[in-house]
Amino acid sequence: MNDQAEKLRRLTRALPKKKFVHQALESSSQKCRIIAVTSGKGGVGKTNIALAISLILAKAKYRVLLLDADLGLANIDVLLGLLPKYNLTHVIKGECSLKDIIVQGPEGLQIIPGGSGIEELANIEPSVLQNLLQDIAALDKKVDYLVIDTAAGINNQVLAITLAAHEILLITTPEPTALTDAYGLIKVLKKHSAAGHINLVINMVKDIEDGQAAAQKLISVSKQFLNINLGLAGYVPFDKAVQEAIRQNQSYILAYPRSPASLRTWRIASLLGGLGQNSTGIQDFIKNIIFFFRGERPEGGDW
Ligand SMILES: Nc1ncnc2c1ncn2[C@@H]1O[C@H](COP(=O)(O)OP(=O)(O)OP(=O)(O)O)[C@@H](O)[C@H]1O
Ligand SMILES: [Mg+2]
Repeated sequence: MNDQAEKLRRLTRALPKKKFVHQALESSSQKCRIIAVTSGKGGVGKTNIALAISLILAKAKYRVLLLDADLGLANIDVLLGLLPKYNLTHVIKGECSLKDIIVQGPEGLQIIPGGSGIEELANIEPSVLQNLLQDIAALDKKVDYLVIDTAAGINNQVLAITLAAHEILLITTPEPTALTDAYGLIKVLKKHSAAGHINLVINMVKDIEDGQAAAQKLISVSKQFLNINLGLAGYVPFDKAVQEAIRQNQSYILAYPRSPASLRTWRIASLLGGLGQNSTGIQDFIKNIIFFFRGERPEGGDW
């Protein structure tokens, strides 16, 4: 069956209301696609949007893994009222295996609490790395999308993740400070020659014009001064449903599926499958992260 048409049908079937005309989704290879959700400024909606997009893909029967890689505040579990016992740090210290830390979320969504694990990959023991890569190889076959919620700003963990991802969803609000910080992050990504295409999501917009004006500013300065063509994934309105859902320990996608924020997020998720081309899987993603931290391939690895 045509992979492209099948993807489109699945997302459209899962829509709460067939309201939007979806763009045709391009086909990707069989391997897991990796989407990093990031921002320059904090508090712009990364965690809520990363979770919402993951749930939409999961509702469409994709196998989705959501990695909470925000060092400071483990947000996704809080948002869903989950209490994970272990995180990636325990795996990296060799105290448990990857499958022990995966938490089951709604709609079959699987969540990995990251802790400070990503950064600690730099110092992982070769034998533990071997086991981890084996576990990941098995996981690679079972996951269609890995969505990563990162911390805000520019630190090594965020850089390592965004540079290794296939797609970067850069969240900002229309506020000048958020736009300036977003531009700062784009500059750094450009300096490091990020391979993933950068796609903007303008969150908490008053109306579409508000979102368009903000997007246009970022797109034109990035083109003019950095020679980067930013993509535009879409807008999410400021919507009390998002805040109301948080109070219920739930994602707005599930609590208020027909709210304006949900419908707009649905639209963004439906376009995501068509972004980027080369999926390399989670194993290569982890290898690239270690490579970023060490600047060399780790000893004892079989790669
Ligand atoms: N579309 C929206 N409409 C209304 N409020 C929103 C919307 N998106 C986010 N918020 C509000 O912004 C707050 C911050 O959102 P979120 O935690 O997702 O941001 P973040 O970028 O992950 O923050 P951090 O940088 O601290 O990780 C939420 O608690 C919610 O109150
Ligand atoms: Mg967050």
